[in-house]
Amino acid sequence: MNKKEWYKNAIFYELHVRAFCDGNNDGIGDLKGLISKLDYLRDLGIGCIWLLPIYPSPLKDDGYDISDFYNIHSDLGTLSDFKQLIKEVHKRDLHIIADLVLNHTSDQCAWFQEARTHPNSPYRNFYVWSDTNQKYKETRIIFIDKENSNWTWDEAAGQYFWHRFYSSQPDLNFDHPLVREEIINILRFWLDLGIDGFRADAVPYLFEREGTSCENLPETHAFLREIRELIDHEYPDRILLAEANQWPSDLSPYFGDGNEFHMAFHFPLMPRIFKALAISDRTPIIKIINETPKIPPNCQWSTFLRNHDELTLEMVSEKDRVFLWNYYAKDTRMRLNLGIRRRLAPLVNGNQKIIELLFAIIFALPGAPIIYYGDEIGMGDNIWLDDRNGVRTPMQWNSKANAGFSNADKKKLFLPIIEEGRFSYQQINVEDQLIIPNSLLLKMRRLIACRKKYEVFSQGTCNFPNLGNQSILAIKREFKGESILAIQNLSDKIIAINPLEYNLKKSYLIDILENNTKNSTNYINDEIRLEPYGFKWFLMKK
Ligand code: NOJ
Ligand code: CA
Repeated sequence: MNKKEWYKNAIFYELHVRAFCDGNNDGIGDLKGLISKLDYLRDLGIGCIWLLPIYPSPLKDDGYDISDFYNIHSDLGTLSDFKQLIKEVHKRDLHIIADLVLNHTSDQCAWFQEARTHPNSPYRNFYVWSDTNQKYKETRIIFIDKENSNWTWDEAAGQYFWHRFYSSQPDLNFDHPLVREEIINILRFWLDLGIDGFRADAVPYLFEREGTSCENLPETHAFLREIRELIDHEYPDRILLAEANQWPSDLSPYFGDGNEFHMAFHFPLMPRIFKALAISDRTPIIKIINETPKIPPNCQWSTFLRNHDELTLEMVSEKDRVFLWNYYAKDTRMRLNLGIRRRLAPLVNGNQKIIELLFAIIFALPGAPIIYYGDEIGMGDNIWLDDRNGVRTPMQWNSKANAGFSNADKKKLFLPIIEEGRFSYQQINVEDQLIIPNSLLLKMRRLIACRKKYEVFSQGTCNFPNLGNQSILAIKREFKGESILAIQNLSDKIIAINPLEYNLKKSYLIDILENNTKNSTNYINDEIRLEPYGFKWFLMKK
């Protein structure tokens, strides 16, 4: 593969520096701590780290409210620690991208403070002001649990300001040329430090226009293409990953003609994987992949099961939303906005087979998969914490004090460790899983290694052979004469497939996940037997 297109074949690992490892024992994870865990990530087999926001912030939205775009949050370290991190990441042949919030700032950002208190300040126009709260009425509210308007009155300014998220996150005014210029300065600043790209937050919302939803506007796409042009010219091997929680038809313009984003999250796929599992039927997955528009050859989907937010159900019908809520979040405390605030393992009652199956599905489908930190060991959540904090608790490294996350006094930890029940750090931690044969962690390592070995997973065409039973999701990937058949059982029943009944006749199948060579070849008349929630991946040989 073209080295410039490294992102197409990489497994991404999303992590919260604050929650990963505490290097100076103040109870908060930091860059030094992260550096000390890079070998763990390399050994897991991931290719790119994605950092949640690392900038100075009052943390009213856990860092997505940036108060200074040119520095590192003092809890996490310094710019020189960050440079060290990049050096250490690259030394291990890994890549690293970071979240960048373009759409808004914190209300504590000096620009906003200037803007609201000095009407003649050059910063006034950095934000979107209005004398009434009646403009852009067709725009939806995103944080429906906490906000009831996209406008908030500012006493000092004597006007309303526009915000798509919390009222502590005023939106920047992209119609103002100086805002666009500033964003470009910010990009250059971090790219010059050597970062491999950005996960660009909330990109559909940059511009506002009356009479529209203020999402996905042509002006927004035009500016995003301008950013891309800059990257292509000045930093050709860096990437832009779009966070646009939209339907497939609205998502594909974010790739442009291969001249906008390199990658975009596949938001509509994620809840359909959970639905397919709940009903033991492959249909929702096949339908959404078949409805997904083709993307330019230099682009890649970013696929995921969970992330740091609620499991969003925005991209499903009202009926499916209610179904998924009732199935996966019976307790209303588990629900947030239009989603579910739970981690992967608790969503499936800690069933390791199901966790492996779900990863197998996103690893076999088109796209570059993301692992959310802790999901590789099956970490749990704490639904009693506020907002989305329940899925952002400290990484569980071992069964010693504070789960090996920090040597600080327990009371000083930025969030409590999960210490009760089946997901407690005594039960679920890295150190134990490194020595327990067939632990989730070791299985994940093998799955990752296998996926990386076959380029067909990242580049190949995808279709879905019908192997009868609706609970069987068969994914066939083909690239440059290589074919892989990944067969997944979405049900709790044993299912046997007779390859002779299907078009698999002319091939024999080599099991690429099975180490034991005795069991690794399926000849034409061997039956394929799948355990409940089991899966097998085969290389097809003529
Ligand atoms: C999307 C991020 O994933 C979420 O955590 C954040 O609250 C909003 N954007 C606002 O920046
Ligand atoms: Ca610390």
